[in-house]
Amino acid sequence: MNILVTGGTGFIGSHTCVELLNNNYNVIIIDNLSNSSIEVLEKIEKITSKKPKFYKIDLCDKEKVKEIFNENKIDAVIHFAGYKAVGESVSNPLKYYRNNLDSTLTLLEVMKEVNCHNLIFSSSATVYGTPKELPIKEDFPLSTTNPYGTTKLMIERILKDISISDKEISIIILRYFNPIGSHKSGLLGENPSGIPNNLMPYIVRVATKELPFLNVFGNDYDTHDGTGVRDYIHVVDLAKGHIKALEKSINFKGIEYYNLGTGTGYSVLDLVKTFEKVNNVKIPYKIVNRRPGDIAACFADPTKAYKELGFKAEYGIEDMCKDSYNYILKNKSN
Ligand code: UD1
Repeated sequence: MNILVTGGTGFIGSHTCVELLNNNYNVIIIDNLSNSSIEVLEKIEKITSKKPKFYKIDLCDKEKVKEIFNENKIDAVIHFAGYKAVGESVSNPLKYYRNNLDSTLTLLEVMKEVNCHNLIFSSSATVYGTPKELPIKEDFPLSTTNPYGTTKLMIERILKDISISDKEISIIILRYFNPIGSHKSGLLGENPSGIPNNLMPYIVRVATKELPFLNVFGNDYDTHDGTGVRDYIHVVDLAKGHIKALEKSINFKGIEYYNLGTGTGYSVLDLVKTFEKVNNVKIPYKIVNRRPGDIAACFADPTKAYKELGFKAEYGIEDMCKDSYNYILKNKSN
């Protein structure tokens, strides 16, 4: 089967390409490399001994997207491409609405024109806003707290409408919790440019002494140690969830939603302590004010994905901490 992966050189996209190739799917990547590098392709090839086909194009360019669909018989699309920095989306919302919506609409129009019916969409637990209770189930009310999250929710709504109008279509929406970790080889991982916004990329920079200490955003939340609790999931597990979703999508019509998380919440300090222990490094930290927009705790009920997709995360928090650090050690510039 030929699978088109948009954003296939990004953090989650590249790990998913590896799993697809390992499962004998043919992979065709579209990426404009706006937040990733071309070297990722060689690394995917090194890990899998298979070469994905690659097109450096902008997904908003309808003519080019159509050419790719005409050149390759695409059986299903996994759509990752999109801007994802929460803070930037608040300061530049138009950039997020224009790019994330336009690219998705273009993709959907072309899929309709060429009769490609299978789509897996990369959504986020951010669409649950501030959850009314925990763990979070797929049928909880949806709301967002920033433009990035709103683009994910708007796309979910667009896809719902399409599923009503088109009885042939198969859409699986995956809502990711907090992906961290990296491929065991140390070849693929997450290394954002500039000062990281997310917790694990920040911790690894403190571990390598590029940053002096971690700011812990608040220790007065209603959690077991006062710091924010999240459902961290190893990116390789997350990537495997896409294979399960793809298998489901082949004999399915309509739209379905799945949480991809482990179901276990860890606090900021749990993560710091585990990272220190498994990597034998010190992570100095300071408690600072809460970050605006943060919630106390967020973790998944992963039951639906387990029952209907047969998906269960296998890696624990120790592996996530080890693998995140291993990637940075292997890819440091000095
Ligand atoms: C954020 C986004 C979410 C996105 C996800 C990608 C918000 C509101 N949500 O989730 O939409 O899908 O990233 O992984 O931004 N923390 C610190 N110090 C730091 C960084 C983070 O204490 O320097 C704490 C946070 O307060 C939070 C936890 O670590 O409790 C996790 O934060 P982060 O990694 O940024 O992820 P989320 O905010 O959960």
